[in-house]
Amino acid sequence: MPLADSSTSLISIRGLSFAYPGGRTALDNITLDIPAGERLGIIGASGAGKSTFLLHLNGVHLPTSGEVIVAGTPVGPGTLRDVRSKVGIVFQNPDDQLFTPTVEEDVAFGPLNMGCPPQEVRDRVTEALSQMRLEEYRDRGTHELSHGEKRRVALATVLAMRPQVIGFDEPFANLDPGMVHQLIDVIRGLKATVIVISQEIIPVVACCDRIAVFHGGHLKAVGPALEIAANRPLLAECGIDFHYQGEIWRKLAAVSGD
Ligand SMILES: Nc1ncnc2c1ncn2[C@@H]1O[C@H](COP(=O)(O)OP(=O)(O)O)[C@@H](O)[C@H]1O
Ligand SMILES: [Mg+2]
Repeated sequence: MPLADSSTSLISIRGLSFAYPGGRTALDNITLDIPAGERLGIIGASGAGKSTFLLHLNGVHLPTSGEVIVAGTPVGPGTLRDVRSKVGIVFQNPDDQLFTPTVEEDVAFGPLNMGCPPQEVRDRVTEALSQMRLEEYRDRGTHELSHGEKRRVALATVLAMRPQVIGFDEPFANLDPGMVHQLIDVIRGLKATVIVISQEIIPVVACCDRIAVFHGGHLKAVGPALEIAANRPLLAECGIDFHYQGEIWRKLAAVSGD
């Protein structure tokens, strides 16, 4: 996929800086363009500014300076409803996303809130549950699900809104390896522009076209996923190298003769 420029981008971030109340600068002059249909990974160590960045895409945070433009609309106090219908965010903790008694009610909440007619709400719920292979969970109580199941329901609540852009905050954290694999397949199959935030580069390489590296609130680098993953000095500088895994892969390759 060609690297983006602002004339073709679905999301355009221009000189974005953000400080939390109290003055701590979390993002410093970030400029980044994301074309429609791209799967962009954002990697960085804890505290790099990844979640703060993601929360600017649907206006939970508004820039201290600079601007964020989604599908031609600048994100601001007057455009939040429009922007939130275009950008869905899957939070790191599913308990922040799920708040009604049953799976079905949680998945129906977004479409109902958007004013969809009853039949369309039912269709959207059925489709989102089916996409996440959750048909059997429709009537289950959300509170009784495992963490991994809640994560799938949280994604279904976002899919039911049919957003143009889906942002995931640390989707691979606390998942078993089989679930990581399943989620990578789901992300690859999404017909949306996707942004995946992670402290770990390996699953991001598996599902993203391009990767941006954040460090201390700065955008340190952006490029094709494999090129970024191959830049071990950059990863080490930003505290996200896969030191011990590289060593293990070399040993495994030697044992299996690959
Ligand atoms: N609610 C908050 N109030 C003040 N500072 C915050 C808040 N949330 C995050 N920060 C600070 O902003 C910086 C970036 O945090 P965050 O975006 O959560 O990083 P990441 O998601 O990459 O771990 C960190 O220094 C963090 O301590
Ligand atoms: Mg975070």
